Amino acid sequence: MLFTLILSFCLIFYCNVEIVSTTEASGLPHLPPYLALRKDQLHSFHGVNFAVAGATALDAKFFYDQSIGKVLWTNDSLSVQLGWFKQLKSSLCTTKQECDNYFKKSLFLVGEIGGNDYNYAYFVGGSIKQLRASVPLVVEAITKATSFLIEEGAVELLVPGNFPIGCSAVYLTLFGSPNKTEYDRNGCLKAYNAFSKNHNYQLKRALDMLRQKYPHARIIYADYYGAAMRFIHAPRHHGFTGGTLTACCGGGGPYNFNNSARCGHIGSRACSNPSSHANWDGIHLTEAAYRYVAMGLVNGTFTTPPAAKLS
Ligand SMILES: *[C@@H]1O[C@H](CO)[C@@H](O)[C@H](O)[C@H]1NC(C)=O
Ligand SMILES: *[C@@H]1O[C@H](CO)[C@@H](O)[C@H](O)[C@H]1NC(C)=O
Ligand SMILES: *[C@@H]1O[C@H](CO)[C@@H](O)[C@H](O)[C@H]1NC(C)=O
Ligand SMILES: *[C@@H]1O[C@H](CO)[C@@H](O)[C@H](O)[C@H]1NC(C)=O
Repeated sequence: MLFTLILSFCLIFYCNVEIVSTTEASGLPHLPPYLALRKDQLHSFHGVNFAVAGATALDAKFFYDQSIGKVLWTNDSLSVQLGWFKQLKSSLCTTKQECDNYFKKSLFLVGEIGGNDYNYAYFVGGSIKQLRASVPLVVEAITKATSFLIEEGAVELLVPGNFPIGCSAVYLTLFGSPNKTEYDRNGCLKAYNAFSKNHNYQLKRALDMLRQKYPHARIIYADYYGAAMRFIHAPRHHGFTGGTLTACCGGGGPYNFNNSARCGHIGSRACSNPSSHANWDGIHLTEAAYRYVAMGLVNGTFTTPPAAKLS
C-alpha cells in the first residue's frame, strides 16, 4: 500500500529510522516537524513528525514526582504530542466520515518511544530492579496512545520496540564492569539487553490485546532489537567495518563516548567514515545503521505481522 500520509510520533533518540525508511520507501518527501509546520504546508500535506528530542512516553509529572524531573530535556511527552495531533486533525478533516477516509490511507508511527523514560532514570543512577517496575507503566502509555489514535481513525500503525541498550556506547561506558561474565559474546551488557527484551515482550503482549480489541486495525510491531542485533553480531558481514559498539563521533574513552566531551561539543570529533560505523554519537545509530534497520522493516523481515506492504 502506498501511503499518502505519514504521521509520526516517534519521540526521541531513535526516530530517524521510521522517518527515513517509510518516507523514502513511499517516495514521499521527508516529514516537517509539527512545531515548525506552516499553514501553507497544509495544502500539499504528506504528513508530519511530532517527535521531540528527549521526549518520554510517560508525562513529565511522573519524573517530577520521582524528583528526577530536572533532568528532562522536554516536557513534550507522548500525550502532549497526541494533543498536537488532535489540533492538527481539525484543520485536515471535519466529519467523522471525512476523517476516517483521510486516515485510512495514513501510516501512523507510534515510536520508538519509551527508551528515554528509561535513559533518564538509568543516567541518574536508577537500578535495573527499580526500573523494571516502570516497564508496565511505559508500555501502558504506548498502548494507550495507540488506542487513542485508532479511536481517532488510524487503521495502519507501526509500533516499534526498544533497541538493545546494552550494546549502546553510552550504557557500555556508564555501566561497564570488570566482570567479564556480565558481557555477552558481542561485547554487550547482558542485563541491560535483557531489560530491553523484557520491555519488548510486554509491549508485544499488550499489542496482541489491542489487536483483539480493534480487529479492523493493522497494528504492526517493529522489532528494532532483532534488526540491530543482526549487525551487532556480525558487523563486517553487514558492511560495518568500523565496528558497532564504538561511537563514530565522541570525545575518547574505550567506546569513544565521553560525557564531558559528547559529540558536537568541544573535545569531540567525528570519524572520517561514518557509514562504516553503526553507532553515531554513543546514543544514536549512524544513518547507515538506521537504513539497515529500516530495510528490515520495509521488507517485512523485522515486523509482525510482516509489513512488506509498507513499500
Ligand atoms: C517542565 O515543567 C516543569 C514543571 O511545570 C517546569 O518547571 C520546567 O521548566 C519545564 N521544563 C521544560 C524543559 O520546559
Ligand atoms: C560476575 O557476574 C556474575 C553474574 O553476571 C555473578 O554471578 C558473579 O558473582 C560476578 N563475579 C564477581 C567476581 O563479582
Ligand atoms: C573526556 O573529555 C575531557 C574533556 O575534553 C578530557 O579532559 C578527558 O581526557 C576525556 N577522557 C577521555 C577518556 O578521553
Ligand atoms: C531485508 O532486510 C534485511 C536487513 O537489511 C536483510 O538482511 C534481508 O536480507 C532483507 N530481506 C529481503 C527479503 O530482502
